[in-house]
Amino acid sequence: MSQRDIILGIESSCDETAASLVADGRDVLSSVVASQDDLHAKFRGVVPEIASRAHLERVNLIVGQALERAAVALPEIAAVAGVNSPGLVGCLLIGFTAAKTYAWSVGKPLIAVNHLHAHAYGAILSAEQPEMPAVALIVSGGHTSLFHLQTPLQLELLGRTQDDAAGEAFDKVATILGLPYPGGPAIDKLARQGDPAAIDFPRIYLDRESLDFSFSGLKTAVLYHVRGKRLERPDASHLSDCQKADVAASFQAAVVDVLIDKSVLACRRRRAETLLVGGGVAANSYLRRRMAERCQNEGLRLVLADRSMCTDNAAMVAGLAWHKYRRGDFAALDEQVIST
Ligand code: KG4
Ligand code: ZN
Repeated sequence: MSQRDIILGIESSCDETAASLVADGRDVLSSVVASQDDLHAKFRGVVPEIASRAHLERVNLIVGQALERAAVALPEIAAVAGVNSPGLVGCLLIGFTAAKTYAWSVGKPLIAVNHLHAHAYGAILSAEQPEMPAVALIVSGGHTSLFHLQTPLQLELLGRTQDDAAGEAFDKVATILGLPYPGGPAIDKLARQGDPAAIDFPRIYLDRESLDFSFSGLKTAVLYHVRGKRLERPDASHLSDCQKADVAASFQAAVVDVLIDKSVLACRRRRAETLLVGGGVAANSYLRRRMAERCQNEGLRLVLADRSMCTDNAAMVAGLAWHKYRRGDFAALDEQVIST
């Protein structure tokens, strides 16, 4: 059997500490993810300092588990990949410094990976036969971006959010409704009991031709709907469960309508026949169903990242890094992390 190139990937850009071993960019030998949701829940958002500290405590343990589950010894790997942008700078520093240290300790190359490009690769990893060129919609807690991909490494930014990310809007609306953290999965669940047409929340397109997004106005519309225009009601406790479900479903529909319309517009404009969808919000069941229906009507090939590949993980990092490995695109040991 010909030798396979196994890459160790490390991800720590936000609040998941993750490590993975992937062979030849496709074969996921192990993928270990330690979530910090429990640490941030009482603050209803990621506290950067707590997140960095937790990464520091966990990263070596998680890498050890990834190697053990894949039954691979560190010297057998071809290279080590770490995410160096974008993300919380203290968090990036922990994972990327760990990647540098592992690479240096075994004398293997270091590869720097962009977190958003890795999310697009999460969808590519989920497809049988990834076809390019493609448009990728990356929807997460920190980002909402559209890219055009010629190859997994050639990405052109087509548009992005001007204010809140879609996942951030889910998390904030969940807070308004008094739902648990993180808000996305909680809204997804509650919305199944609600009517997406119950409340006509605004669909914010900016300019109809624009591929940029904006979600902060929608979040404010939900706040006014729940608490009143003068915020006279302190919270959502006056709403029945049924009314809360209608708010969740109607909010979710307003987000999803815009995400779908702009993704289809991007495909048309760039004459791409494949749409890749990744990032935490891509796990949303309503978005997945509606995207599938619309892409079928439009004759587009839809590739949704597998649910395990939507939220932050290191398999998408190690997978994408293999393409850089083949090109000899290595980073120096003094390569910096960049928050944007
Ligand atoms: O990609 P990710 O793990 O981290 C970032 O890079 O931001 O995305 C996390 C985001 C959170 O805002 C979370 O609420 C959202 O993804 N999310 C969801 C769902 N699962 C996670 N949003 C809507 N529906 C879901 N099922
Ligand atoms: Zn992410």
